[in-house]
Amino acid sequence: MLGTKRVHQDWPGLIEAYRRWLPVSSATPVITLREGATPLIPAPCVAERIGKGVRVFLKYDGLNPTGSFKDRGMTMAISKAREAGSEAVICASTGNTSAAAAAYARRGGMRAFVLIPDGYVAQGKLAQALLYGAEVIAIKGNFDKALAIVQEVANQYPITLVNSVNPYRLQGQKTAAFEVIDALGEAPDWLCIPVGNAGNISAYWMGFNEYRQAGRSRRLPRMMGFQAAGSAPLVLGHSVEHPDTIATAIRIGNPVNRDNALRVRSESNGDFMAVTDAEIIEAYKLLGSGEGVFCEPASAASVAGLLKRRDEVPAGATVVCVLTGNGLKDPSTAIEHNDARFHTGLEADTATVARVMGF
Ligand code: F0G
Repeated sequence: MLGTKRVHQDWPGLIEAYRRWLPVSSATPVITLREGATPLIPAPCVAERIGKGVRVFLKYDGLNPTGSFKDRGMTMAISKAREAGSEAVICASTGNTSAAAAAYARRGGMRAFVLIPDGYVAQGKLAQALLYGAEVIAIKGNFDKALAIVQEVANQYPITLVNSVNPYRLQGQKTAAFEVIDALGEAPDWLCIPVGNAGNISAYWMGFNEYRQAGRSRRLPRMMGFQAAGSAPLVLGHSVEHPDTIATAIRIGNPVNRDNALRVRSESNGDFMAVTDAEIIEAYKLLGSGEGVFCEPASAASVAGLLKRRDEVPAGATVVCVLTGNGLKDPSTAIEHNDARFHTGLEADTATVARVMGF
């Protein structure tokens, strides 16, 4: 019979797909929303701006179940919390961690408490945390303050902390590096990634190293981390008391994984650099209208950074930019910052429509 060939292959989620690389056992209850297996999308418009035969790919982790890379870490952290008998989890968040923690905790039958900086979380992320059934606590303080509070609470009360100080988070997130190598057949020359709390850059580096040690790749990438200019403690070499940027996801002044990040930079011969909000928005718009890929502003920092350092990219290199979150998370930034022609308030007749179309 025609048409019986199976095209869609079921994906079991990253714990099952990469089980032998992860600290799980038959006793671990796998809490999954089938996260992972996100596409590596060629970015010809970005590549064209660099020239020199450079190939650019976007690791679009905004296509995870809650719309960000946090799902990779959360499937692990929540499964392990459940294995340990935990009944509740807590995190501080600029938005994405709270959405992922809420979704996975509720799916695992646990309570989720999330602390967020009041007024500095993009609308879609807040909507998610509420809808997934988290208990949302908005504080008059930034992410760094919220993280200090949840660390104290988790020390004093029976509740599991699921920020990236939880080692299972980074274990789950390292699978993104596995997927990049599985897709390309080799590690890229450069990995460009936005950096906030510096968990993800540490996780990618772990993944690249583990695959190379196992003979799945021959080389390691240079790890290029980009921070928003108003929130760039790793670039400046000291904490920032009042971090500020349009990219609220990475509005972080005191990264908890600082030591890991510095080690990644030196081991990979990588670098950290700041990109301005204007550069972030330019890359954000290029990704949308040039590539057809809608990411959130923080994610666009990876592409803004690559463009800023285009002169240093070796000819013929393969570059992967990590797009950490989906653009739908933050619709108000998109509505405010775009180059679209948007005709509003017009009469509902064909002649008017044809006229504004230029006929
Ligand atoms: N991109 C996005 C979209 C993020 O949400 C974050 C962090 C990062 C990049 C930076 O990753 O912290 O591992 O260096 N978001 C956290 C949160 C802080 O609460 O959702 P990192």
